[in-house]
Amino acid sequence: MLVHFPALFIHSIAFLPCRMGQLRNLHSTFLLLLFLPLAPCGGQRPSCDRCDLRLFCNCSHGGLTRVPAVPDGALTLDLSFNDITVVTGDDLTGHARLGSLSLHGNKLAVIHPSAFDSLWGLEELDLSNNQLTALNHRWFSKLGALQELNLLHNPYRCLGSPPVFQRLVRLRRLGFGGPALEELKRGDLSGVTQLEELTVHANNLTRYETGTLADVWPLGRVTLSLRGPFLTNIALASAVLGDVSYPETWLILEDLHLMRNQSVQPSREVARRRVRKMTFRNLSVSDEAIADLLVAVDGAPLTSLFLDGVTLTGEGRWERARWTDHKSIDEFFLRNAKVLKVFQFASLLGLQFLLQYPRKLSVINSQVFVMPCLTSRLLVNLQYLDLSDNLLTDLTLVETLCDGDGTLKDLRVLNLSGNALKSLSTMNRQVTKLSKLTHLDISRNGYSSMPQGCSWPSTLRYLNISRAKLTTITPCLPATLEVLDLSNNDLKSFTLLLPALRELHLSGNKLLRLPPGCLFPNLQTLTIQSNTLNMFDRSDLQSYRRLQDLQAGQNKFVCSCDFVHFLQSAVQGGGGVHLTDGEESYVCDSPLYLQGEPVGRVQLSVVVCHRVLFVSVSCGVALVVGILVCVLLWRLHAFWYLKMTWVWLRAKRSSRGRRQRRDGVETEELLSYDAFVSYSERDASWVENFLVPELEEPRENDEDSVNHRAPRPLTLCLHKRDFLPGHWIVDNIMSAMERSRHTVFILSENFVKSDWCRYELDFSHFQLFDGSAGGDAAILVLLEPLSKDDIPKRFCKLRKLMSSSTYLEWPQEEERSGEFWRKLRHALRGEEDEDD
Ligand SMILES: *[C@@H]1O[C@H](CO)[C@@H](O)[C@H](O)[C@H]1NC(C)=O
Ligand SMILES: *[C@@H]1O[C@H](CO)[C@@H](O)[C@H](O)[C@H]1NC(C)=O
Ligand SMILES: *[C@@H]1O[C@H](CO)[C@@H](O)[C@H](O)[C@H]1NC(C)=O
Ligand SMILES: *[C@@H]1O[C@H](CO)[C@@H](O)[C@H](O)[C@H]1NC(C)=O
Ligand SMILES: *[C@@H]1O[C@H](CO)[C@@H](O)[C@H](O)[C@H]1NC(C)=O
Ligand SMILES: *[C@@H]1O[C@H](CO)[C@@H](O)[C@H](O)[C@H]1NC(C)=O
Repeated sequence: MLVHFPALFIHSIAFLPCRMGQLRNLHSTFLLLLFLPLAPCGGQRPSCDRCDLRLFCNCSHGGLTRVPAVPDGALTLDLSFNDITVVTGDDLTGHARLGSLSLHGNKLAVIHPSAFDSLWGLEELDLSNNQLTALNHRWFSKLGALQELNLLHNPYRCLGSPPVFQRLVRLRRLGFGGPALEELKRGDLSGVTQLEELTVHANNLTRYETGTLADVWPLGRVTLSLRGPFLTNIALASAVLGDVSYPETWLILEDLHLMRNQSVQPSREVARRRVRKMTFRNLSVSDEAIADLLVAVDGAPLTSLFLDGVTLTGEGRWERARWTDHKSIDEFFLRNAKVLKVFQFASLLGLQFLLQYPRKLSVINSQVFVMPCLTSRLLVNLQYLDLSDNLLTDLTLVETLCDGDGTLKDLRVLNLSGNALKSLSTMNRQVTKLSKLTHLDISRNGYSSMPQGCSWPSTLRYLNISRAKLTTITPCLPATLEVLDLSNNDLKSFTLLLPALRELHLSGNKLLRLPPGCLFPNLQTLTIQSNTLNMFDRSDLQSYRRLQDLQAGQNKFVCSCDFVHFLQSAVQGGGGVHLTDGEESYVCDSPLYLQGEPVGRVQLSVVVCHRVLFVSVSCGVALVVGILVCVLLWRLHAFWYLKMTWVWLRAKRSSRGRRQRRDGVETEELLSYDAFVSYSERDASWVENFLVPELEEPRENDEDSVNHRAPRPLTLCLHKRDFLPGHWIVDNIMSAMERSRHTVFILSENFVKSDWCRYELDFSHFQLFDGSAGGDAAILVLLEPLSKDDIPKRFCKLRKLMSSSTYLEWPQEEERSGEFWRKLRHALRGEEDEDD
């Protein structure tokens, strides 16, 4: 970037001086010296990314000292109110899309000649309020699209040559000049041919070549500040005015100080050129000057005279000009007027020659507390009266409108906005007879209540009572109204049939819901922002048959599903109603987790929006799944496994407890049974009829008397007989097995099928493997032939047992039973026999 600075100097001295003859040689040296200390010393370029969605980059008030880097696509770049001193050759390269650039209010002293060359698309350029001491035509040589150029308030003394605006073929709005502007020469504006707006600040202009501004035509509006010339150089001021005055041009003269006959003379030029519309802005004027002005424009076709910001040093004595003719005057507008000698101010009675003509009269913000009835009677043509922002009260209003006697009978528009009026019924009485009144603006007054009945002129269409303190409305509001503004009151409801109403403004009240649409069959526009609306829906809007535009933002919306859904479709134009305040004004207030979220961007889930449906569906699904799982588990015998695990865990625990208690005590002493018999209930008869008698009651005459000793009776543990009542069954089984030497399983199909037996089996199985009893603790007795494959697969432990342990089969033939018993007894006695 530093590379560019030497080039910059050379280009800078290419300016041609204002007074070529005298200063040419000095000039280059001067500029060089001036610019040298201003060259900034490199450093990193700041950046600014304060760009919005429309690519408007607002980098104003950023304390920037250099042009910052901004996104390439920016359309508008606002660099106003920074401390930028220089625009280098490549500060703005790559911004071909830039449409608007503002450098207003910086400290710009140096602009590289080709600084703006890449801004092909630039339409607006604002360089006002800077330190540019000279203008360079090269800056603008590539800005063919430029429509608006503002060079005001810079300390250049002339526009320079070659003509700076020559290439700006599209220019429509131009402002130049400042406190230092001394000279305007013919040709300075060459290239500028047609302007909508021209602003020239030339309070210190001392040299003007007649015709300099004469080539611009048509010229929509000209604003001139020519204070110095009006005071000291009447000829120059007249020449300037003469060059820009056309009948269709609106002439605005600023900052004038008109005190003597002399200073008014340039106005003759205006009258001569038949200017019709004229404004004095920031004017201080004496009585004498006003009278002279009236004389100067005598007979001119001036139709509109605007005075904005006038300080009147006199007393309103303008009768000297009574003879003058001002019948073309149609509109007289006075705003921010200050009368220094307000208490000496004469009534305007002497001004009939002026007051009888205008149809429009505005006296705004000028501390008017009364317009005497006699003055009102002079305003015979008046159709439009604006007395807004004054000091009228109910009492002085009565005087101004002659107590409602029908003075100002042609009045169509009456604006009393911003006064100190309090009584609507007084207001009503004063205008009842104004039979042509269509517009009544009584906004920003102190009305706090409304009478029950009123009689308005039947022509009244527009009524504005906004910014008052109304809490209720009554049938006082006429049914003829087409536009009604009641915004910024304290209304809580609105129920009044207004069949002709087209526009209703209710923003800033306390309404909880939209007023029923059936009351306004013709309503097209409704504004109801900043109330306390929680929501509204399609049917609310459908009750308004003709509604087109709605503004309902900035309310405390409850973002329910219905509302969010409705609003999102309304934003997209569904429902035929246009939300003119933009979707970003619609913000959720509740529920809490959505607070502050624009309704348009809320995404509500199905869970929230269809809660009942969601709950029923999910319950249904859960139920079905539950049933399926249960069926599946049942099919897979999972319950059985579960129960088993539980039982086993319990049994394990209590068994451990017992074992600890048993420590140290002789095992034999604890073994109180020879065998625990595990059997199915269906096999109970066999156990009771055969097994128990056979083993517990040894017979005297044993058929099988191979062995002559009478066999010792065995003690058996049967659950039916020996279990302690009240104890948990598994505990019983557990302790029974622990207290028995053997466990005899009576295997039959019944056994295998019975849950009961499964408990025992499984438990004993663990016991058989974990316990101290050893491998022969289990004895299997097969009551009926049962192959291993008959046993369901899940009884894997039983199957394993069957394959590992030997087992006894209950013989089908009677005669072989003796052998069976012997074998069983032998198995039960086991060790005992070996001891013998
Ligand atoms: C740009 O930003 C400044 C402050 O940063 C603010 O005062 C100004 O109003 C903004 N301009 C626009 C047009 O938004
Ligand atoms: C412009 O004129 C005013 C008086 O009207 C004077 O005070 C001021 O210094 C002048 N400015 C320049 C830059 O000549
Ligand atoms: C009004 O004009 C006076 C000079 O007559 C000037 O000093 C003052 O700044 C102007 N006021 C405004 C608001 O332009
Ligand atoms: C004001 O000046 C004009 C022209 O300079 C002159 O004709 C006229 O008589 C003067 N009016 C007064 C009241 O001095
Ligand atoms: C009445 O005056 C106020 C303030 O000057 C203005 O905002 C409003 O638009 C005017 N009303 C009408 C109906 O012209
Ligand atoms: C009603 O008056 C207020 C305050 O003067 C103004 O802002 C508003 O635009 C007016 N309403 C209409 C519909 O003109």
